[in-house]
Amino acid sequence: MGKRKMHGTWSSRWTFILAATGSAVGLGNIWKFPYIAGENGGGAFVLVYLLCIAIIGVPIMIAETMLGRRGRQSPINSMRDLTIEAGASRAWVAIGWMGVIAGLLILSFYSVIAGWSLKYISVLAQGTFVNATDDIVIASFETLQANKGEMIQWHSIFMLMTMAVVVGGVTKGLGNAVRVLMPILFLLLIALLAYGFSEGDFGQGFSFLFNFKFDQLTWNGVLVALGHAFFTLSLGMGAIMAYGAYMPGDAPIGKTVVLVAVLDTLVALVAGLAIFPIVFAHETLQPGAGPGLLFVSLPVAFGNMPGGVIFGTLFFVLISLAAWSSAISLIEPGVAWLVETRKFKRVGANLLLGGIAWTLGLGTVLSFNDWAGEEYQIFGLTFFEFVDALTANFMLPLGGMFIAIFVGWFMHKTHIRKEMSHETPKMFELWRVLLRYVSPFLVALIFAFLVWDMISS
Ligand code: TRP
Repeated sequence: MGKRKMHGTWSSRWTFILAATGSAVGLGNIWKFPYIAGENGGGAFVLVYLLCIAIIGVPIMIAETMLGRRGRQSPINSMRDLTIEAGASRAWVAIGWMGVIAGLLILSFYSVIAGWSLKYISVLAQGTFVNATDDIVIASFETLQANKGEMIQWHSIFMLMTMAVVVGGVTKGLGNAVRVLMPILFLLLIALLAYGFSEGDFGQGFSFLFNFKFDQLTWNGVLVALGHAFFTLSLGMGAIMAYGAYMPGDAPIGKTVVLVAVLDTLVALVAGLAIFPIVFAHETLQPGAGPGLLFVSLPVAFGNMPGGVIFGTLFFVLISLAAWSSAISLIEPGVAWLVETRKFKRVGANLLLGGIAWTLGLGTVLSFNDWAGEEYQIFGLTFFEFVDALTANFMLPLGGMFIAIFVGWFMHKTHIRKEMSHETPKMFELWRVLLRYVSPFLVALIFAFLVWDMISS
């Protein structure tokens, strides 16, 4: 593995924690989790999501980090070296390839939604929603969705912001920004929670999220919960592998990953607990409102609370920043690979991959206006919904399943043990059992049930 020296390493495991948390905590937690929980009936969905994080997500996240650290290169090249080391088929390198493609597909719609949140910084700063009724807030969001030109403008700005950071390389700057901003975001969520507690219908919001109503949950809902466990942890496409490549050799992987997963889950649950009490206190707001949920529920709250202009503006600044630190990790695996092997400069690699994601993003922009109609649907989904489902519900779980199988069944145990030297023998064996038998089996089972469900209906 002669190329191992290509990467610098971060000064401590804390930098990995910050970068991985920066990647994990993003629109998935604050925008997506609440609206898919709303669409899938709440409680039972949340329970399945939490189980998927704990018994599928965390073991695979440990595996992905470990692969990155052992490979010490971009995901594609790390997989190339590790398959040779394991004496396994080169076909496993496809994990890296699929990851690059999934990353660009996700980035394409991620950037559009992050653009909405950039736009909302200025909307809230102007005091548009002071004492606004629900109707005004909803109408304002609908106006944005109808305006292609404006959405493309914000989408372009966000994409350029992402490319600008990735051009600079991941080891610099990124960790520092995240270190300051994530705690502030979390504090603001707590403040919103307090608002929901005093002004909203907290009881109903709470029971919506934590009262397990299994009759509301479909097999498709289970698949969405599984997919979201991967999405929210940034798993299954090489992002965490790319960051693991910078992790110091002596840092404990298991502990570190568990901490990231716990932080990520906390943010999602607090975001849900902040949003639903507000939704239930307003008749015109619906839990199943879809992708606009965040953009209608929270502005209502900010419009009616003291200091709402300042807090609201700050909140959308922070969501945009959280989205920014996540978007970076969607493009980094591809950029790192182009730079390593194809003699690209970082600028060129970013322009190429960012350009592809930007172009694909136009399909998401149109999904909310010109292409919203049935004649443009793919399997009954809009372009945006299709790309989202294809990546989160299929590509990421598949990528994760292959990672689990590769590490669990093909890598030499001694090599794995070397990377996982901090884990007690018991924990190590538990993790390997989960990785070999439980995680891939559950992913396959959920896929199988979905197919069966589709055939029988
Ligand atoms: N985890 C991020 C979020 O919740 C999104 C994200 C960033 C992601 N990098 C990823 C999702 C890699 C899947 C794979 O917003």
